[in-house]
Amino acid sequence: MKERILLIGSGGREMALTLALLASPSCEKIIVAPGSDAIAKHTACRPVAADDIEGLVQLAQEEEISLCIVGPELPLSLGIADRLESLGIGVFGPTKRAAQIECSKAYAKKLMQEAGVPTAAFRHFTDRDAALKALDELSFPLVLKEDGLRSGKGVHIVAGKEEAKKTLLALEISESSPLLFEEFLQGYEFSLIVLAQGDNFICLPIAQDYKAIYDGQEGPNTGGMGAVSPVPKVTPALVEESVEKVIKPILKALIADDAGFCGFLYAGLMATEKGVQVIEFNARLGDPESEVILPLVEGDLVKAIREILEAGPGEFQGTSPLLKLKKACSLGVVLSAPGYPGTVTERVAIPQEFFDKAEAAGLSIIHMGTRIGENICQSSGGRVLIVLAQATDIPAARKKVYDFLEKEAALIEKLHYRTDIGLSAF
Ligand code: AMP
Ligand code: GLY
Repeated sequence: MKERILLIGSGGREMALTLALLASPSCEKIIVAPGSDAIAKHTACRPVAADDIEGLVQLAQEEEISLCIVGPELPLSLGIADRLESLGIGVFGPTKRAAQIECSKAYAKKLMQEAGVPTAAFRHFTDRDAALKALDELSFPLVLKEDGLRSGKGVHIVAGKEEAKKTLLALEISESSPLLFEEFLQGYEFSLIVLAQGDNFICLPIAQDYKAIYDGQEGPNTGGMGAVSPVPKVTPALVEESVEKVIKPILKALIADDAGFCGFLYAGLMATEKGVQVIEFNARLGDPESEVILPLVEGDLVKAIREILEAGPGEFQGTSPLLKLKKACSLGVVLSAPGYPGTVTERVAIPQEFFDKAEAAGLSIIHMGTRIGENICQSSGGRVLIVLAQATDIPAARKKVYDFLEKEAALIEKLHYRTDIGLSAF
């Protein structure tokens, strides 16, 4: 069966998905909503916003979509999967109830506790005074997490009581804006993303995301400044432990909670002295993880999604013959606009020469936030582009990307990038 696909989203993740879906023999057609100027160079885009649920449903009906794939979390949290499912339209993305695993940290923690999934100890507050009082009983560093969707920016790691107090006074804490105190975990962070449905899952290669804005994990957190996949430091035994202690039990707990999960399930994990621990779950693919992972996947991604959608209990337990992984390393460095992750202060023009030279150097570029006019490409967001290379190992992939960025520095003078992506992965 050839699928008519609607992909929702507009960022780098969705451009990477577009290219991977277009390369699948089972893809008949793909429409992206709202998409971007860069995505529109590859396939049709329609100007329906990712949070316009009724608009998206109407588009799916008009275009006789057989399979909808959801990129970002927002439409999931608004119930896009529930709506499409009720109309009999195939959708790879969790229901509103299951998407709470990302949208509500309190829900995710409760589920992990019930399932015995290892995660940092935590306390939940809906009142500032109670949170301030609790500071007397806790040790530092301490992690303060704002609940709800925060684009990776609602986490504050505080070194001591004074800093904690200051942070608490600056945050809104209420019934509708709860705050979590979490034990600070020390270890090595990595992401395991699976395609899931019920208790079925297919593992994608492990990725590592570099979240802080500056080298050496300095400065505020961002959505991710670069990534690498696979990660040599994450051994097969560690992957096995993550599957057994995290993926299998959480999928079972979701089923038991009447929230059987369908879609990409992202586990943000930490290898600690006590074993693997969950930092967070996301109900979607990661960004920039998608940009490094998807080029490593060979085979028919669309058919694999259809097969897992229709699988009975227990049919896929980690792998699928439809998805083979290339024996290569993939690495990407994000270029960000001035001001990011704070307020972006400037739109930066990127000359065509930069893209031409990247192609000639054997690199690929995914647009994360740009507008493309007739003769101009301009940044339109905080994270602008990700420059990607594949090679036999990480040092070789690093060399390809960084040699290029150094050589062409004059073309991207105003954009910022980290120089240590991949260094800690091997
Ligand atoms: P989150 O939004 O929950 O993914 O957190 C963003 C980042 O903050 C994570 O990728 C970690 O680097 C860091 N972080 C979150 N929770 C913890 C924790 N309990 N211990 C240490 N670091 C954490
Ligand atoms: N790169 C982390 C995320 O997508 O949440």
